[in-house]
Amino acid sequence: MKNLHLIEHPLIRHKLSLLRDKSTPMHEFRRLLDDIGLLMTYEVTRELDSVPVEVETPVGTAECNRLAKPPVLVTILRAGIGMLGSFMQMLPESPVGFLGMQRNEETLQPESYYSKIPSAARTHPVILIDPMLATGGSASAAVAHLESHGVREIVFVCLVAAPEGVQALNRSHPDLQIYAAALDDRLNEHGYIVPGLGDAGDRVFGTGADDIR
Ligand code: PRP
Ligand code: URA
Repeated sequence: MKNLHLIEHPLIRHKLSLLRDKSTPMHEFRRLLDDIGLLMTYEVTRELDSVPVEVETPVGTAECNRLAKPPVLVTILRAGIGMLGSFMQMLPESPVGFLGMQRNEETLQPESYYSKIPSAARTHPVILIDPMLATGGSASAAVAHLESHGVREIVFVCLVAAPEGVQALNRSHPDLQIYAAALDDRLNEHGYIVPGLGDAGDRVFGTGADDIR
């Protein structure tokens, strides 16, 4: 699949198998999502530019490297919040933006309801985070929204991708690099990823059909 970077570490595979399990409760789901996010951060940030710096250690001068520009993190509400903490932990200097998007369950089209993007996103690389890439409608709309606000450098990170979503992103944004922990089989008739993990937002926030509303 074009522009798709699958991060297939044994630990990620192990934790993803637990996360997918329908009997995994909300608190465990959150912890696993956090763990996988931490592990993915390592690969997702591999291409970031560094600048040389001289550091005075207690013993001498060390020639070191630091990030040229900390990336801006942008997450798609709600489920993206489940992965945001791990990226913030590894990138504590990163500003954070939010895009509110809700997929219409009938049309499967994303409906945008909120946007707050740091101005640094125009000059720094942006890591766009959402655990699920299904039809690709939400991710495509999010990238288009960022680009229309002058953002030039974006990578997209998800946990589980459907082939349909990767293809849709390839069509709408041919240069966008996509990082995922798994590429699943397909979408079902309701636009859910198969086998997937169900509704990520519901599983992170306890708003599924069996939960008290
Ligand atoms: C989920 C998910 C993505 C979107 C993916 O969010 O977090 O944003 O669906 O589907 P797509 O690729 O077909 O657009 P949802 O719209 O269910 O909102 P939520 O996070 O508030 O539950
Ligand atoms: N959104 C989800 O949370 N899960 C899917 O399988 C598809 C869209």
